[in-house]
Order: sequence, then C-alpha cells, then structure tokens
Amino acid sequence: NGFKSDDWFIGSIDQGTTSSRFIIFDRWADPVASHQIEFENHYPHSGWHDHDPVDLISSVETCIEKATEQFVAQGYDISQIKAIGITNQRETTVCWDKNTGEPLCEAVVWPDTRTKDLVRDLKTWPFADKLLNLCGLPLSTYPSSVKLMWLVRNHTEVKKAYEERRLAFGTVDSWLIYKLNGGKDKNIHVTDTTNASRTMFMNLRTCQYDDELLNFFEIDRSKVDLPKIVNSSHSEAFGSLAYGPLKGVKIAGCLGDQSSALVGHCGFKPGHAKNTYGTGCFLLYNVGSEPVISKYGLLTTVAYDFGDGQKAYALEGSIAVAGSGVKFLMNNLGFVRDSSKVGELAETVSDSGGVVFVTAFSGLFAPYWIDDAKGTLFGITQHTQKGHIARATLEATCFQTRAILEAMEKDSGHKLECLAVDGGMSSSDITMQTQADISTIRVERPEMRETTALGAAIAAGLATEGCWTLQELFDLTHSKPGRKNFDPLGNPKHIKLMYERWERAVEMSRGWVKN
Ligand code: G3P
Repeated sequence: NGFKSDDWFIGSIDQGTTSSRFIIFDRWADPVASHQIEFENHYPHSGWHDHDPVDLISSVETCIEKATEQFVAQGYDISQIKAIGITNQRETTVCWDKNTGEPLCEAVVWPDTRTKDLVRDLKTWPFADKLLNLCGLPLSTYPSSVKLMWLVRNHTEVKKAYEERRLAFGTVDSWLIYKLNGGKDKNIHVTDTTNASRTMFMNLRTCQYDDELLNFFEIDRSKVDLPKIVNSSHSEAFGSLAYGPLKGVKIAGCLGDQSSALVGHCGFKPGHAKNTYGTGCFLLYNVGSEPVISKYGLLTTVAYDFGDGQKAYALEGSIAVAGSGVKFLMNNLGFVRDSSKVGELAETVSDSGGVVFVTAFSGLFAPYWIDDAKGTLFGITQHTQKGHIARATLEATCFQTRAILEAMEKDSGHKLECLAVDGGMSSSDITMQTQADISTIRVERPEMRETTALGAAIAAGLATEGCWTLQELFDLTHSKPGRKNFDPLGNPKHIKLMYERWERAVEMSRGWVKN
C-alpha cells in the first residue's frame, strides 16, 4: 500500500444533521479510511426537530473506532494520526448540566420552528433593528439565540438549571469537544469563531460575546456557561481525546460545516464561493477580511479564522431544505427506496410538467425569510407523475440557489463566474445540470466530495507542525483529476418563465394557515 513510516494523517469528525462520520485523510488530502452512521431525527410535534445529544456523541465515538480499525488494518500506525479536526451542523442548541455533564433536554435542531411566535414578537422589540448589523444574522427561527431563549422560558429542567446557575450552553462543536475531552472532569468548554457567529450572541467585528445581544435575548451571563470563543485552528484550546483508540490525539481544528466546506474547496480568496447540498443547502461567498452586511436577505458569517490575521468573512445564502426534500419523497411519500435514486426518477420525465414544489417545511430561509411559509405543491393535474414531483423537488433547491446568487450579485456588485459544489445532491448529474441551467452559471464539481470533512482536517493540519500550508493545499486540491463542469444549456426564455413561476409560488406559500 505504499506505506511509509514518515507519512502523516489527519482525522476529521463530521457531525451533520442526519449522520456522523469520521474520515482519516492522508497528506495528499485524500481519504484513506472512513465510517459513517445515520442516527434518528425526532419530530415530536409539527415544526419541532430534535436530536438526542447522547446519539450525537455516541455515533461519533463509534465512527472513530470503526474508521481507526480500517486504518490500522491497512498497515498504518495510530501514531501517524497527527491531529483531529471537528466540523458540525451549526446553530443546533445543546443544553447540559455543568455539574453532571448530562444533557438537560433534547438538542433543538437548526430547522426547528417552534420559536416562530417568539420570533414574531421579538421583531417588535426595541433594538430588534440593530441586531443584523451587530451579528450579521436577521431575526428568525434559525440561530441558536432564540432556541436558547425559548428553552430557558419554556423547558422546566433548563429553566431550573439556569436559575440555579448550572446551565451549560453550546452548539454541537462545544458539546462534542466537552465530551471527547472527558466531560466535567476536564471541563473544556469552547467553540470556534465560525460556530459562534451562528448563535447571534457574537459581535461580528470583535468576535466575542456582545452584552447588547445577550441582553436582547434575556440571557444573563452569570446564570449560564457560554463556551469560550477561540480561533478555528489551534494547537491547545480544543484539548485532546480522553478515551478510545485515538486517546491523547489533539483536537486542533474546529469549523462550522459550511465554513469547513469553503475551506475544503480552498476558497481562501475574496470572490471564491461554494454551494454544499446537504440536509439543507448553503452557499458561501468569501468577501475578505471585513464583514459585508447584506441588504438583500443574506447572512454575514465568519468564513474561517486561522489566527495571525488569517480571518475571512463570507456572505451566506442558507436554504433549509435540500437533501431533506429528497428524504421526504423517500420516507413520507415512498417514491423511492434509496435517496440516490431520486435523480433517476426525475429523469423519467423531460421536465416538471408545470409542477412547482416550494419545499418550505421550515418556512423559507435566504433570501426570502418567510417564517410562516409552508411546503406547497403547485400545478398538479391528472397528467402529474411521481417523476414530475421528484424533478420539482430538485428544482426547488436550484431556484433558491439562483435567488441567493442574484442577492449576492446585488450585495457584492459582481456576478459569480462559477460555482464549486459538494454534498450529497451534487453527485446527481441531472441536479447539477439543472442548477447550471436555472442559475445560468457554470457548476464545477470536484472528484473528491468529502469537502466538508476535509476543511476541518485542514484547520487541524494548519495548527500542527510539519503539516500543510495554505498554498500547498490550494495547489494540491486544484491539481486533482476528475473535476466535472456543467455549463448552462437551457433555453433562456423557458428558464425565465420557470423562474417567474417559482417566484409566484413563493409568494403564494406565505402563511395561509395559522399553525
Ligand atoms: O446551518 C445548518 C447547517 O450547518 C447544517 O448542515 O450539512 O447538516 O445540512 P447540513
């Protein structure tokens, strides 16, 4: 296997909305061993979306064990794994008891909309109009702040722990780092700048907690332990694994998953952009070392922060439903047995037959921000087949991506020339061709699509002596063969008509029922 004892490797934990994985990358940024586990998502009431925090950590532990077994079976030695990076679903809110280290409630997952009435109320409060400029995010059900505020107000255990000053809050990165380090015995309670920028508690310019933001959400710092905010790449702050086959290996990198995908694409220069088709779909556009506040419904977020002034901001367009729309066709409607077959189903018809599916299961995110939109199917006739609905489901993500690209063009003053893609749905050629057609932009897909996990490995490698430099990484990833481009082929008149229909459908999906 070409094994050399001076070869080194970096491990990457990727904790997402539907699965956890652990991937070990070699020095050429190629995966050599990996394991993935899907865990349960819970929807106890309409609009609620929970994870069991114990599932999150235990699935990660199993992935580490299994991938390490594979690695060792190939003849490598554990001592060759120099460090570990963590990347994770963002905004998802975990509350635990700092005295016991045990969760106080289910984690509230990022697309959860139980807070929508609270959000509607908050929008009328004094100071509400100042939030966007301070933290880069508009008031919506999406960030952690409203989730924590809701839990402190409504969840008995959380409320009690808050009053008794036992409450620890964190996003998924903090929870995993805390547990992997040995929990309350080591008590490493940290987060990185990219994850903190999704809470709405962090000031975008100072990259520290802001009392005006905390006060707005009625969070009293003396009653809750907030994770310390540190750089995304750090040789000490994240501690090391306290147990398992990689016991003692340092955690040296941490990035929210969408930042991590941008880093994995080596999107280090202003103007670089990527679109990741996961459970949701997230387009990040590197705007350089100063934040740009959007006027057109985009978010401003920290792209990465490697210390020593190597910090970049991004404009982000977040789409709540992408892969979860495909899962809906599979799990709720029984259209296919395997989500990878949705592309084939869509290919059974030549177009959507006039069907438009606004997949607003969690309201609509960027650039629309319509909290009370509901998933709505338009244009059904006797002629409508499953294939038309499958096609309309894929198109929904592509239309929203176009709307985001248009907003980015207005905010940044120039049009993107090409869009780097990754994530599950990007493997579907029909989806990527549709994306190129609808957004009239070249779509560029790399062969190695574990881009999100690679980003965290890069963050960890940068903090570890003798590993990569940014320039080496750029050259390495861009010289790899197997990239595939999709150029726009659609008839412009037809595309214009389709997009107009989509915009009309979005308007009609607005709050037509109360709950
Ligand atoms: O903001 C939510 C995002 O981080 C979730 O990503 O890949 O699990 O859809 P993903």
